[in-house]
Amino acid sequence: MSLIFEATEENIAKAAERMRNGGLVALPTETVYGLGADATNDRAVASIFAAKGRPSFNPVIVHFRSKEEAAEAVVFNYHAELLASLFWPGPLTMILPRRADTDISKLCSAGLPTLAVRCPSHPVARKLIKALQKPIAAPSANASGSLSPTTPQHVLLSLGGNAGMILAGGKSSVGLESTVVDLTGDVPVLLRPGAVTLEDLQQHLDEILVEFSVTSEKPKSPGQLLKHYAPKTPLRLKAVDVKPGEGLLAFGSTKFMGVAGDKFGSAAERGGAAKDLLPPEAYQNLSEKGDLEEAAAHLFGMLHYLDAGGFESIAVMDIPDTGLGVAINDRLRRAAGAQKHSG
Ligand code: TXA
Ligand code: MG
Repeated sequence: MSLIFEATEENIAKAAERMRNGGLVALPTETVYGLGADATNDRAVASIFAAKGRPSFNPVIVHFRSKEEAAEAVVFNYHAELLASLFWPGPLTMILPRRADTDISKLCSAGLPTLAVRCPSHPVARKLIKALQKPIAAPSANASGSLSPTTPQHVLLSLGGNAGMILAGGKSSVGLESTVVDLTGDVPVLLRPGAVTLEDLQQHLDEILVEFSVTSEKPKSPGQLLKHYAPKTPLRLKAVDVKPGEGLLAFGSTKFMGVAGDKFGSAAERGGAAKDLLPPEAYQNLSEKGDLEEAAAHLFGMLHYLDAGGFESIAVMDIPDTGLGVAINDRLRRAAGAQKHSG
């Protein structure tokens, strides 16, 4: 029997019932699919860590339907009020001090005095929180250290039976994990770039620090310590050509991408676009028209696809480091860096 259920009213009610009994449910959000549990149930939250193989020092985001509900779990300040009014519901996670009297499981904070809170916009996520009548703790619904899922099929491939039940609500429209901002200090700190871009935040904040470089010595977000978003096939970033045995993750026009080697013929000499020279299974384009939003939405799905193609490596074309490109490049560098360090 398949674990994937269309998110009908009836199946949402079933999923809520399952969570009320301490079970796990993979749910769609606008960013990526999450592996959800009742955030107030210690055993249920503990089982998220077990299902993902996630180290217990890595805290988990808790999802609410509104700012008012989130404010019962954490202490809002001026910056949090402002960003919530601008970007919620949506792909922004805020780190704030936990309230002493909150019934959110301490496991969600992994020993920190803070809690990450988010208010998703995906209607299925919102309906599920409403049906459960509790906030939902949910990291991305993938085995720890692998790519985040943007479809129910990705969840199934990564977690199998460990996902419990998978509610299907289409492809995640954003396609990258939420922007994470630490608002516990005087100056907000961007810990993970996402669809709410640095430029978006700068427009509304006097000052914001950036702390998400892959090489940062003491990351504030425990998850940043980990190998992340790694496909099995090595990535070659900022590629200007495609080598023999490689797949291509393109962005924009491939007119000037050289294609070398026996397998595809000495195409560089033949000239022409990589798009027309590579076999279709070796070619994915994040966005032919060079649109960063479209590229973000396609990123994990195309990486999943090329990763399954048995290539020696994946050549990734350069992506501009502005706006949403910052988040896309962050995920790509992490994926490439993780492989380098894990050997
Ligand atoms: O878009 C998203 O954020 C998705 C969907 C399901 O909401 N969730 C997600 O969760 O990406 P996860 O666990 O894969 O990534 C959460 C990141 C991790 O890097 C974690 O270390 C960090 O947020 N984080 C969570 N709580 C934190 C806290 N209290 N302080 C600092 N970092 C925290
Ligand atoms: Mg994750």
